[in-house]
Amino acid sequence: MRLAIVGVGKMGRSILEGILKAEFLAPQEVGVVDIKEYAQGVAAQYGVKVLTHSELRVAERVLISVQPKDLPTVAPQITHPNTGYISIMAGVSTRVLTERLGTRRVVRAMPNLAATIGKSSTAVVGPREAEEAGDLEFARQLFATVGDVYDLPERLFDAFTGMSASAPAYVAMVAEALADGGVKMGIPRAQALKLAADVLIATGELLRYKHPAVIKDEVSSPGGTTIHGVAALEARGIRAALIEAVQAATLRGHELGQDE
Ligand SMILES: NC(=O)c1ccc[n+]([C@@H]2O[C@H](COP(=O)([O-])OP(=O)(O)OC[C@H]3O[C@@H](n4cnc5c(N)ncnc54)[C@H](OP(=O)(O)O)[C@@H]3O)[C@@H](O)[C@H]2O)c1
Repeated sequence: MRLAIVGVGKMGRSILEGILKAEFLAPQEVGVVDIKEYAQGVAAQYGVKVLTHSELRVAERVLISVQPKDLPTVAPQITHPNTGYISIMAGVSTRVLTERLGTRRVVRAMPNLAATIGKSSTAVVGPREAEEAGDLEFARQLFATVGDVYDLPERLFDAFTGMSASAPAYVAMVAEALADGGVKMGIPRAQALKLAADVLIATGELLRYKHPAVIKDEVSSPGGTTIHGVAALEARGIRAALIEAVQAATLRGHELGQDE
């Protein structure tokens, strides 16, 4: 068994799907553990084995994708010698992972919800022992099946989490609010939602080639409609709000880490 996934909720399941779709691992090389009964259904759907916590000892590596609050319960159940661990738990540092799991073969990773469509940005970091045992390289390859992977110093992990991992929520709020604006001005709800999604996707594509300020300037003709909308956003402090959102989420990441 090359990999066991503990916790097959939204993220665990998406990563499982990415790994199998990319043929990084074969179904018989993967096992899943979850306290929810639907783990049986997930296992049947993907042709992987359901493992009990004690059966985890057969796994070379374990991906921990439960909520951070569940780590104190889960850690004693999954600690086995000669196992490498990869955690995607927000705010849980390699120091805490090392203490809880009793090994320095730990990789801390931070994907985002776009893993569900293979478009995550994932940061990874691990101590020398994880590098030497091949755990870090394994994690890089694993997360490459669901998007782009970045090596990031651990001191920036909370910022990465507050920005990249939380951003789907911020951007979804922008989409919803745009649609509400359309509805307020008379566009039917379903159409407004589709338009909002389409414009975010298109702008995301443009951002690959153009600086955000260039896009804004290109759309804003002198005395035109867009610059009036832009001014309204500035008056409401949209930039400050987003900067504060990243800062607040980053600080919450620090706090969660300290709770441990
Ligand atoms: N969602 C995101 O956008 C995102 C992004 C980056 C990182 N993360 C991190 O990814 C982790 C998982 O997030 P998620 O959104 O996938 O959460 P989730 O949907 O709640 O999935 C966690 C799963 O683990 C199960 N579980 C709880 N205790 C367990 C145990 N002792 N053994 C085995 N399974 C257990 C949960 O069951 P119950 O529901 O019954 O407890 C649930 O099915 C979190 O640590 C989060 O910080 C999430």
